Amino acid sequence: MQEFIVQEHNVKLKGSSPEEVLNYFLTEYKGNIAFASSLGAEDQVVTHMIVSIDPSAKIFTLDTGRLFPETYDLIDRTNSRYKIKMEVYFPAAKKVEKMVWEKGINLFYESIENRKLCCHIRKIEPLHRALEGFDFWITGLRREQSVTRNNNAVVELDNNNHGRIKINPLINWTEKQVWDYIEKHKIPYNKLHDKGFPSIGCQPCTRAIEPGDDLRAGRWWWEHPELKECGLHQK
Ligand code: ADX
Ligand code: SF4
Repeated sequence: MQEFIVQEHNVKLKGSSPEEVLNYFLTEYKGNIAFASSLGAEDQVVTHMIVSIDPSAKIFTLDTGRLFPETYDLIDRTNSRYKIKMEVYFPAAKKVEKMVWEKGINLFYESIENRKLCCHIRKIEPLHRALEGFDFWITGLRREQSVTRNNNAVVELDNNNHGRIKINPLINWTEKQVWDYIEKHKIPYNKLHDKGFPSIGCQPCTRAIEPGDDLRAGRWWWEHPELKECGLHQK
């Protein structure tokens, strides 16, 4: 049934702009749709679009406790520019403590299993809480970002999140379209983007890339490309 709804929406919205896609879902499912923002360039574009359609829509971010100072600054800058209050979700303190006491503060470098555990406790569980009561969620995913994102569509069934429907309005956009839009609308963005960081996650798991590198080469750089998803968007 859900799959049929997803298919139907994809057909109906074929060729629509990101604004049209957002306008459709934010109007049709008002109060039942939330946007997960990591404050990355794509997410800043989506925030700008959402606020101009429905400033009361829920926009949230997952604070893993290991973000860059520049990302925290951008939460404030975004809130004041758009007169919104992004909802910030934190991991469960007891679970973080247990993990760190048992496996160390930088456990993620030691094995993929540890890295996935950390992402699970610091991101996935808070994401589930943030999405409680919502049937639809919006992301800033783009197909071009990674080999793991080649098959993503504008509307898709998210089997990882209790069969929720995930909306990716920028899935077909290029990096240039994102940056042209940011420039045109003078959208606040993370200062790290000017320092070789096209994709920004947690500080210990993100580094700058060289020109010509894959866009996500600086994320979990010690792992293989096909493994580089934290689980938020695992298929
Ligand atoms: S990740 O899965 O590897 O971390 P990436 O950083 O490319 O994802 O971001 C893809 C999308 O996932 C973002 O556009 C955003 O919708 C969502 N996302 C990622 N990290 C967060 C976060 N910390 N808080 C909220 N949403 C996030
Ligand atoms: Fe932990 Fe790194 Fe995942 Fe952040 S990206 S939650 S620090 S493993």
